[in-house]
Amino acid sequence: MTIDDTSHIAVIGAGLMGHGIAQEFATAGYTVHLHDITHEKLATAQAQIERNLHLLAENGIITTEKIAPTQQRIHTTTDLAAVTENADFVVEAVTENLPLKQEIFEELDARCKPHTILASNTTALMPSQIGAKAKRQDKILNTHYFNPPYLIPLVELIRSPETSDETVAVTAELLTRIGKTPAILERESLGFVGPRLQAALIREAIFIVEQGIASAETVDLVVRNSFGRRLSVAGPFEVFELAGWDLVLAAFEELYRELNSSPEINPLHREMVEAGRLGVKSREGFFKWNDENLQELHDRMNRALIQQAKSEAI
Ligand SMILES: NC(=O)c1ccc[n+]([C@@H]2O[C@H](COP(=O)([O-])OP(=O)(O)OC[C@H]3O[C@@H](n4cnc5c(N)ncnc54)[C@H](O)[C@@H]3O)[C@@H](O)[C@H]2O)c1
Repeated sequence: MTIDDTSHIAVIGAGLMGHGIAQEFATAGYTVHLHDITHEKLATAQAQIERNLHLLAENGIITTEKIAPTQQRIHTTTDLAAVTENADFVVEAVTENLPLKQEIFEELDARCKPHTILASNTTALMPSQIGAKAKRQDKILNTHYFNPPYLIPLVELIRSPETSDETVAVTAELLTRIGKTPAILERESLGFVGPRLQAALIREAIFIVEQGIASAETVDLVVRNSFGRRLSVAGPFEVFELAGWDLVLAAFEELYRELNSSPEINPLHREMVEAGRLGVKSREGFFKWNDENLQELHDRMNRALIQQAKSEAI
């Protein structure tokens, strides 16, 4: 299997992540077969891809002439057999559920051509877990995208102990060819790098609110307008290299004892879920949501991410 054997891409699951991943491959010129369980989901994905492509064109990231050919390269189907027939590289982006993913990988393994690489976009599960029922252990790995995949350049690449060097190399080359920045991890672990760090941050953020130290609004205000700004241009190691590890040691020795290190979900978080306060999807979480403030958040995030994509720093 070489990179030149890779021309047909299949994406399984056309939700928030799957439609954006399909869009990325199609924008780069690949034929994409996008699969989901209902025609409604696929129609929603196609409509969203059209909106995304127009947004990118309006902001000069792609040309308007690219929109129609990109859409034409994406073939949608509810028939799994149709997507697996020609696929050289498969990205699975279905709901985060281990038995479901294992079942899909078992089926993909049985149906796909022998050289086909199977990648999962799971947020936290390990490739050895997801591919446990498949035979081609050497051709299974995770490609972990961040939302929205067409504006965030980095993709974490996670191998199991069985994944071959060739699979890692072909996948990294493929991602590079479509304009992504692959970050190859040394070994698999639950949560990789990005989700682990985000979990540590939100665990402490909820703890701060639960302890009455600051409101959720204030936590977001502090993060957005202080170290959050720095993090997109200098990573945590670079920041603390600048500060000096001796100073950091003196400052954090006492502080670490105060931080939340509980392995349990914070009771406040659990209570909110039990009360149906799920965030945007139920119109209330830590904040209250309506059409206006939700649109304002989407616009603010898109504006900033497009700006960064234009002046690509990494
Ligand atoms: N949302 C994020 O920010 C994010 C970021 C990185 C990774 N992920 C991971 O990506 C995956 C997808 O997440 P999402 O946010 O796109 O979820 P989503 O709910 O928006 O989409 C999941 C899609 O999978 C489809 N699906 C379910 N069962 C299926 C089956 N048997 N065959 C085909 N399609 C099926 C659903 O109909 C749905 O359209 C998850 O593993 C998630 O953890 C999510």
